Amino acid sequence: MGITYDESQKVFHLEANNTSYCLQVVKDGYLAHLHWGKRTRPADDLCRMAFPMIRAFSPNPDPADMMFSLDTLPREYPGYGNTDFRHPAYQVQMENGSTVCDLRYHAHRILAGKPKLGGLPATYVERDDEAQTLEVEMVDEVSGLKVILSYTAFEHLNAIARSARLVNAGDQKLRLLRALSASVDFNDADYDLLHLSGSWARERHIVCRPLAPGEQSIESRRGASSHQHNPFVALVGKTADEDHGEVYGFCLVYSGSFVAQAEVDQYATTRVSLGINPFDFSWLLEPGESFQTPEAVLVYSDEGLGGMSRTYHRLYRARLCRGEHRDKERPILINNWEATYFNFTTDSLVKIAQEASELGIELFVLDDGWFGKRNDDTGSLGDWVANREKLPGGLGDLANRVRDLGLQFGLWVEPEMVSPNSNLYRAHPDWCLHIPERGRSTGRNQLVLDLSRQDVCDAIVKIISDVLASAPISYVKWDMNRYMTEIGSAALPPERQRETAHRYMLGLYRVMDEITAAFPHILFESCAGGGGRFDPGMLYYMPQAWTSDNTDAVERLKIQYGTSVVYPPITMGAHVSATPNHQTGRTTPMQMRGHVAMSGNLGYELDLTKLERSERSVAKRQIATYKEIRHLVQFGDFYRLLSPFEDGHVAWMFVSPDKREVFVAYFQMLVEPNPPLGSLRLKGLDPNLDYAIVRTGQTFGGDELMSAGIDLPYMLGDFQSAIWQFKAKDAPEE
Ligand code: DGJ
Repeated sequence: MGITYDESQKVFHLEANNTSYCLQVVKDGYLAHLHWGKRTRPADDLCRMAFPMIRAFSPNPDPADMMFSLDTLPREYPGYGNTDFRHPAYQVQMENGSTVCDLRYHAHRILAGKPKLGGLPATYVERDDEAQTLEVEMVDEVSGLKVILSYTAFEHLNAIARSARLVNAGDQKLRLLRALSASVDFNDADYDLLHLSGSWARERHIVCRPLAPGEQSIESRRGASSHQHNPFVALVGKTADEDHGEVYGFCLVYSGSFVAQAEVDQYATTRVSLGINPFDFSWLLEPGESFQTPEAVLVYSDEGLGGMSRTYHRLYRARLCRGEHRDKERPILINNWEATYFNFTTDSLVKIAQEASELGIELFVLDDGWFGKRNDDTGSLGDWVANREKLPGGLGDLANRVRDLGLQFGLWVEPEMVSPNSNLYRAHPDWCLHIPERGRSTGRNQLVLDLSRQDVCDAIVKIISDVLASAPISYVKWDMNRYMTEIGSAALPPERQRETAHRYMLGLYRVMDEITAAFPHILFESCAGGGGRFDPGMLYYMPQAWTSDNTDAVERLKIQYGTSVVYPPITMGAHVSATPNHQTGRTTPMQMRGHVAMSGNLGYELDLTKLERSERSVAKRQIATYKEIRHLVQFGDFYRLLSPFEDGHVAWMFVSPDKREVFVAYFQMLVEPNPPLGSLRLKGLDPNLDYAIVRTGQTFGGDELMSAGIDLPYMLGDFQSAIWQFKAKDAPEE
């Protein structure tokens, strides 16, 4: 296991659990990609070089060797300008204007464990024997550019984490025009490209399309990973499905503008690359300076899409998310946003908290509108002082009254933003992103604070820390409600203006690092108008995220199912809200709303004082049930059973790591009269165990549940749902 180097063949073999990833130093020090997929025996039979034949119109970097062209070589970190015409992973401009660069192998190191990535979120290990890291140093003699390619192979997961550090080791200024995190060449194009796309209130729907010659890409140019595209793509083999076949996942641990692309070339090979979006990006490297790319997490699965998802889930749950709450069960919350919007007082909130307490809810969250003069969304962002007209006793008094009811207290903030109508903006009009002499576009009546500036970041850390220290706060919802426009910084010189957006992300990461470290007991949930920044970068600082502003149970099935392709259910905030739903106008039963929300981090977001008696008792039962099964939802293995993107039936399930406990949820959209008989086959069980339905005691073999399945109930009415809890029975004593 681990990473080996075969000196005679110059082959690096990275073994990550059941995966091999192999690269080779070939002619003249070029670094070729050999293989990524199922584990193979070390080096010996892998020492092939692709396309060792003369190809018309594929030029040769060595005029004496017409057999060798970078145009046909599968490469690890390709550059541009010397015979490879496909998309490069990086591009650098020298002082003479040239943008050609030619990296060659210089040295390598193999390290135990995984070094930290300076200033950026990344996966990590807790012990050095959990992973090994290969660092390959590549050098361009002419420009002095040095690139350190880093590959971490995880011992127990089919995952490789890649990144690159670009160092100016020469004596002239270099301008990075492109610096992607990873590039992988495949020998064929027999795949579908799967990604998660959508919009506000419709995030992360699964989109899948066949690769075709040319380039297919997704990207964000919005200054956030975005509602529109998640920083993730997968190549899905033509014979692969949810449970079988080869799938290659690529996910970027980054929260800003990104690109992920697949380019199919003239010989039907495919180059997949991803990283910071080069659009409107450049970075000046003075001699001696370096630039660290974000990390890309590559996951291989020969157990279909489901196998890939479970690898991401395990890695992100335990070795990306951090902090005190990582391994703790998450509290059931009540959030007042859809209950009251901006219209509340301490007394009206306490009434909701009182009801919540009686239902068994554990955390009360005060959302937007508690500060400054914020009675709508036109002002006060930046003025983080409690509004005494609504909260006469301030935050402390409300928090104490909530805590007296036996609930924890949580608070909403939106620290990255400022309203033009705020004291903060009047005092510091240059603290937002802007370009001199141009207008400042607003989004939701607000401007984006310039987190590329150290002084602005320091101010945010101070202001928010003061708020968090001012009351007994156990949870924070960290919101962000607009994308970037007029991206420029008053603190950067003209030649560095195109660095602003990435410097913003570095500033944001520092701010979140400092605040979360100073308040380790607080559970942080990130939010960006719902799921506009549901990405691994944010999860590194905040172990859960508000999945979508769309709380309609039917819509949520697609959103949560799509999100689960990469992200574990423990990261997904999921709330029961009122009907008719505020985003869709749809009416669904309380039971279904609860079953959908119980499939993530359960919360309620409605005025509990207005619940009908029958709804109240359903909610009370749901809360009690969730307390019984939340360890499965939050820490178990997740299996998708029926897709909401296919027909009107949806199902998924959770299995405890020891396979002894199971929770299954099934949802029916529109009722069908006199329907065919239906059964639901389960997955991931121990075939040799017997499982009993907790409520009835009815017992089935694990093999039976997986091959014959359980009978689906005939449910009258639209938007119905059913859940099952199973426990394995102990073998009878001999
Ligand atoms: C957007 C969030 O997604 C909502 O849940 C809510 O917190 C509002 N912002 C408040 O302005």
